[in-house]
Formats: sequence, structure tokens, C-alpha cells
Amino acid sequence: MLNKSNFYIQSKFTGKSIISIDQFDQKSIMKLMKETKGIFKMSMKKRSSVLKGKLVTLLFFEPSSRTFSSFSSAIKRLGGQTIEYQNPLQTSSSVKGETIEDTVRVFEQYTDMLIIRHPKAGIPKIAAETTLKVPVINAGDGINEHPTQALLDLFTIFQKHKKLNNLKGLIVGDLLNGRTVHSLIKAFSKFKHNTLYLLAPKQLHLTHDDVLKYKKAGVNLISISSLQEIPGDCHFWYWTRVQKERFSDSKEYEKLKTTYILTTKLLKEKGNKKLICMHPLPRVGEIATDVDSDPRAVYLTDEVKNGMIVRMALLKLILS
Ligand code: NCD
Repeated sequence: MLNKSNFYIQSKFTGKSIISIDQFDQKSIMKLMKETKGIFKMSMKKRSSVLKGKLVTLLFFEPSSRTFSSFSSAIKRLGGQTIEYQNPLQTSSSVKGETIEDTVRVFEQYTDMLIIRHPKAGIPKIAAETTLKVPVINAGDGINEHPTQALLDLFTIFQKHKKLNNLKGLIVGDLLNGRTVHSLIKAFSKFKHNTLYLLAPKQLHLTHDDVLKYKKAGVNLISISSLQEIPGDCHFWYWTRVQKERFSDSKEYEKLKTTYILTTKLLKEKGNKKLICMHPLPRVGEIATDVDSDPRAVYLTDEVKNGMIVRMALLKLILS
């Protein structure tokens, strides 16, 4: 059960729920980075016994391709098994009105962990506070957080630049509704001397309160208002999709969806050799497809692969 005494990871992952990046300090993040490197080096045979005998429930109340499949493959590659609900609102007792609390109490009797995605912010936290026996992982809750995405994004940056301090990054798109953005900025605030340039249509900027909170936590945030203002010496660009499902007015979405597009021309003008171009995916037009073949584009390669490996490392630390 998640409570004040076990909220912080403090480098001890065993049995812990992962709900927010707030639970991590720098040391815990670095422990996960090290464990991830270990998974890359581990033989297939050794990997396949890490979660032997373990059964994990995936409850995804919102659509997902990568997060769902990467968790599922991570568990199976480690020798574990899964019970999978995509769209439980049509296929589980949730359709009859069962509460999340009751669903959790049931699945904790069958399985060793629950991985939950939900359109409502805070539901995975309620699940983690409800369960008496098993850890819960937040696989994305509304516009709030997506901690495992931030951890795989950090690993991708760490893999390339060998550090998580003294970095300059650019984050573009739906900063207001993008949960991956929120978790990533929080993650950077755990390290020192990082500057993040933020570029978004004014309707989709971080809230003033969030900006103050993140700045107070130690990350230098600089808002810019055009592609021309992107500094030429960034270590990474993190493009994101405008979150259609969070709009009540579809016209407003149509107006904003492709305000800032990453093109090969922009890469030529503002890119540099050390840069990597990232995106949590799915992309829906905000990165031109001819950028894909640029070696600096990692959103369809390393970032995706790392999603599975970082989750393997996390599952190993929590469950074995
Ligand atoms: C993201 C999400 O679900 O928040 N996708 C993902 O998990 N990789 C980003 C998005 O949907 O835009």
C-alpha cells in the first residue's frame, strides 16, 4: 500500500509502486540507469528467468500501442506472464460499474503487480493506496504524469550524452496536456544545471503554477515563442503531439495541431552534430517523415527500444 513511509524510492525499489517522478531522487534514477545498462549486457537466457513465475496485470483504460506492448514484451522477455485488459471499460467488470478500488482488490489476489493507464489523473495513485499486496505502476494518468516514459527518455539522453547534468533541451508541443512533458521536466529537476527551452502555442503552455514549481525544484525553464529562437547548441529536442483527446472543441484542436513542425530545414538551421531528436509517439504530423532517416532522429529507434529495456530494468528492481 502506498503511503507516506514508502512513497520515496530512496534507491530501494523492491515492492514499491511507481506513480510519480516525485518519488525519485537523483540516486534512484541513476540506479535504474545502471540496471538498464545491465539488462542490455545480460544474456537472453539469464534475462528469461528474472520474472519466472511472476504474473502481471495490465489494465489500460486509454488507448496505447507502445506503453502497453513494451510492458507486455518486457514482462514476457523476462520470463513472466501477463493478464491484459485493453479497454477494460468494454471487457471487464468496470462496464458494470465496478470501482477501481474493487478491481484492484480482485487483481491483487491473482497477480504480482498492476500496471494501470487511465484517462483520469490520480487513478493509479488511488490504486496504489488501495492495494494491500502488490505494487502498482502508473502507465499514464490523464494529463498528469507518465513516469516510465520520462525514465526511458532520460535513459535515451544519458545513453547519448553520458550525463544528465549541464544539458540544454528543447521541449515543443502540448506542454499543458502532455503528461510525458510533465514527468520529463520533473525528472530534469532532480539534476543540476539543466536548461529547458519551452515552445508551445500560448493556449498550450505549462500553467503558471507548474512553471513556478519546476523552477523552484531547480530546473531552468526558458519560454520561447518561435522556431527562430531555438538555440543552436541543444543536446536534445523533444517534440510532442497536441493532445486531441483533451480538447472539448475540435476546431481549436485543428487550429493548434501543427503549429510547430520539425522539418529537415529546421534541423539544418538549428541542429548540431551532438543533437538527438525525440518524441514519445504517436506523432501526427508534427515531425516531417523525411526527418526519420537523419541519424539524429531516435524516436523510432533507440527511444522505442529503450522503452522496453528500461521497463525490464524497473520490473526487475521491483519484482525480483
Ligand atoms: C504518450 C502518452 O500516452 O502520454 N504516448 C506514450 O505513452 N508513448 C504520448 C502521447 O500520447 O502523445
